[in-house]
Amino acid sequence: MSIVVTGATGQLGRLVVDALLADPTVPAGSVAAVVRNKEKAADLAERGVELRIADYNRPETLADAFAAGDRVLLISGSEVGQRVPQHAAVIDAAKAAGVAQLAYTGVLGGPDADFDLAAEHKETEALILASGLPYTFLRNGWYSENYTANLAPVLAHGAVVANAGEGRVASASRADYAAAAAAVLTGPAGEHLGRAYELSGDEAWSLAEYAAEVGARAGREIAYTNVPAETHLEILTGAGVPEPFAAILVDVDKAIERGALAVRTGDLARLIGRPTTPIGTTIGEALASA
Ligand SMILES: NC(=O)c1ccc[n+]([C@@H]2O[C@H](COP(=O)([O-])OP(=O)(O)OC[C@H]3O[C@@H](n4cnc5c(N)ncnc54)[C@H](OP(=O)(O)O)[C@@H]3O)[C@@H](O)[C@H]2O)c1
Repeated sequence: MSIVVTGATGQLGRLVVDALLADPTVPAGSVAAVVRNKEKAADLAERGVELRIADYNRPETLADAFAAGDRVLLISGSEVGQRVPQHAAVIDAAKAAGVAQLAYTGVLGGPDADFDLAAEHKETEALILASGLPYTFLRNGWYSENYTANLAPVLAHGAVVANAGEGRVASASRADYAAAAAAVLTGPAGEHLGRAYELSGDEAWSLAEYAAEVGARAGREIAYTNVPAETHLEILTGAGVPEPFAAILVDVDKAIERGALAVRTGDLARLIGRPTTPIGTTIGEALASA
């Protein structure tokens, strides 16, 4: 049996593979990566990771991606709007192979999440339940890096612009979520099966607090500018963000204002056995590498 990570050449997937390879309880040679681009995964192969080449858009390529008894992490795809058939193809292949566990990275709130971006995750969880596969749902809250990857315009304009009002975000670092995924793939057999984890950071912060923290660490004044949703949409599209994606970002901010991403259950800290990474730490890392 292998521990298999899809999307292993992505940002989260690479961190999951790092966590697995660093775990002394994981037998050498037991980590496999499902990737669509072999060249992009060359460094993983050099580290002893078995490569299984497959594309979610071509179900026939998934036929050899999994084997009986594998513990599989399906990292949700990055092509919003295409993900339900893509994930369905992975679920079908995992079912046909007889995997021992299918862990899936969904979204905080699971079936109760009420924002547009959650729809494909909800449908995917339903498909997994209908498949009868032994599952673990990793319902990820927001990555801190969603914000810190965007520091350049914040510093250039001295402003964090959003339509999230005073809503709070219980974010954690990608590495925290990756460590949680590695934990559920490596625990004693059966420990995490049939479980749904609501994963988020230990502390929730507002956009105003985020702006103040960036300002303090960068040594300059950064304001939070809360704007109406329509204005935010215009600003994003004016900056070159494609309209459909800009609309999703605006909808996410509305969800933040409602408190949908402020939920704190402690599941993430419990799974990783340590506190989650504070937003200030992730801001500091981003500023240091800017
Ligand atoms: N919780 C959050 O805050 C948050 C934020 C952003 C995204 N997400 C979700 O979490 C996922 C992981 O995040 P991330 O930052 O690691 O995203 P990412 O860096 O874009 O990684 C996505 C991975 O999916 C792979 N992939 C996409 N389409 C595929 C296909 N047709 N066949 C096979 N593989 C495919 C990509 O392969 P390549 O390496 O070949 O491109 C990549 O490895 C995202 O895909 C998205 O669903 C969550």
